[in-house]
Amino acid sequence: MTLRETPIGRPEGGPHEDPWWRGAVLYQIYPRSFADSNEDGMGDVPGIIAHLDHLAWLGVDGIWLSPVTRSPNADWGYDVSDYCAVQPDLGTLEDVDRLIAEAGRRGIRVLMDLVPNHTSHEHPWFLDSRSSRAAAKRDWYVWADPEPDGSPPNNWVSSFGGPAWTPDPATGQSYLHNHLAEQPDLNWWNEEVRLAFDEVIRFWCDRGVAGFRIDVCNVIIKDAELRDNPVATEDDDFEAQLFGQRAVYNTNRPEVHDVIRRWRALVDGFAEPRILLGETPVPVDVLAEYYGDGRDELHLAFNFPFISAAFTPDALRAVVEQTEASLPLGAWPVWTGSNHDMFRFPTRWAEDDPRRVRLALLMLLSLRGTPVLYQGDEIGLGNTKLAQGDMRDPLGVRYWPYYEGRDAGRTPMQWRDGPGAGFTGAGVEPWLPFGDVQAHNVEDQRSDPGSVLALARRLIALRRGERDLRAGSYRTLDAPEGVWAWRRGGRHFVALNMSGDPVALPGLDGAVRLSSARARSDEPVVGTVALGPWEGIIGVLAAPTSTAG
Ligand code: GLC
Repeated sequence: MTLRETPIGRPEGGPHEDPWWRGAVLYQIYPRSFADSNEDGMGDVPGIIAHLDHLAWLGVDGIWLSPVTRSPNADWGYDVSDYCAVQPDLGTLEDVDRLIAEAGRRGIRVLMDLVPNHTSHEHPWFLDSRSSRAAAKRDWYVWADPEPDGSPPNNWVSSFGGPAWTPDPATGQSYLHNHLAEQPDLNWWNEEVRLAFDEVIRFWCDRGVAGFRIDVCNVIIKDAELRDNPVATEDDDFEAQLFGQRAVYNTNRPEVHDVIRRWRALVDGFAEPRILLGETPVPVDVLAEYYGDGRDELHLAFNFPFISAAFTPDALRAVVEQTEASLPLGAWPVWTGSNHDMFRFPTRWAEDDPRRVRLALLMLLSLRGTPVLYQGDEIGLGNTKLAQGDMRDPLGVRYWPYYEGRDAGRTPMQWRDGPGAGFTGAGVEPWLPFGDVQAHNVEDQRSDPGSVLALARRLIALRRGERDLRAGSYRTLDAPEGVWAWRRGGRHFVALNMSGDPVALPGLDGAVRLSSARARSDEPVVGTVALGPWEGIIGVLAAPTSTAG
């Protein structure tokens, strides 16, 4: 097989192999839907502790917890009313301390979710800010005068729809919110706001967290002059056309990088440096900027073009190649298929076809970069069909039936077949309905060596044991139509047949390490490898070559 010698791919070797998070598999927990320890129908921190053995058995190295901080739950935790306290129905600070300790004992690190763009409207900072124009924290939020005719201060729209401004009669000004009106945006030009977040970061680092996932970190700072966004034209992308404007002045402002560099310096200053994993819903060329020079901004930045790409070799390979080519030297990609906002990949990419689910898992776990699995990915859990009355997400409540909100990907984890699904007590109504518990649950899949769960675990173990798969470079390999193949490091290769027809891939000698479809470990590859419909394999080449890279 000929290597396509493109400039993509990074040399192996060097200090980038050492930090734990580069070779890690991370796992997102949506706490309210993970495991319910007190039978109130909602998951909680003690529930997570009770299932740490599952995560250790699976082989994950770190967990990211969607917010467990205090919140009135207008946006289910993403509207924080106290950054240093735990939401009572999820547990206590002592529970979180115990979680960090118990996870650590199993070699699992814990990342918290940091929500710096906005607080809850019930946060004491905002209560003070809105109390009068002269309030001590007035400038902690973005206030502006309405136009003389009473219309909003500028044309910005909320990413949740509608105007980004809400008038506040008490002081006659309007406040900015890029999401719900219950989520007022902080003013990141204000040094006191920056200092307050330094304290929040220190607070959690001192409790032993390994880092933070940073919510919408690309939007936190807005144009100082609050200029109107340009009106979208038909040449603009879908999102701009949907909102009627290009988000030029309220997202991706250059000054956001000053804030991220400040956080990086702060977390690098700990004896054991902590990591920053940014939520960065931006095109790939813009994504690269959030890594700074490769050492001074985010350690990891979520790749939304990858999540949103069609499940075809051309679409996914294009994103991966562009990412490989544009990230600064030393920067490390992140690959994700599902999260609590973007739905579950078994449905979105794989149309709930088990062969494609398995193929997608193999892909996620064998690219160069850190995979972040979402709870349930490991059992191939797809989206759950919900009715209007089930809606909990404010977006589903507001926009049904035009948009069904994000709840279909937030339904509870399915631990075993039977009432309560091992998530909560039998007879307790979960806060969101279960999916098909019989078809997808941890207990049954654990005892089935052919299950998706068994495959996920084998993939993680293989990756853990092979430096090529953890740290090796990525190089696209030439492959027939419908196939995406790449080389990892010196000796490994990955081949995905993303079609329903069998194919043969020529030019390879070595052995299969693992197949997504059937038992093929150690099967020799002599000249050609056959791939069944929607089958992916990881293989090892017979001999290392001098082009290893
Ligand atoms: C992020 C979160 C999402 C939340 C939004 C506002 O995108 O992932 O769940 O609604 O920020 O905080």
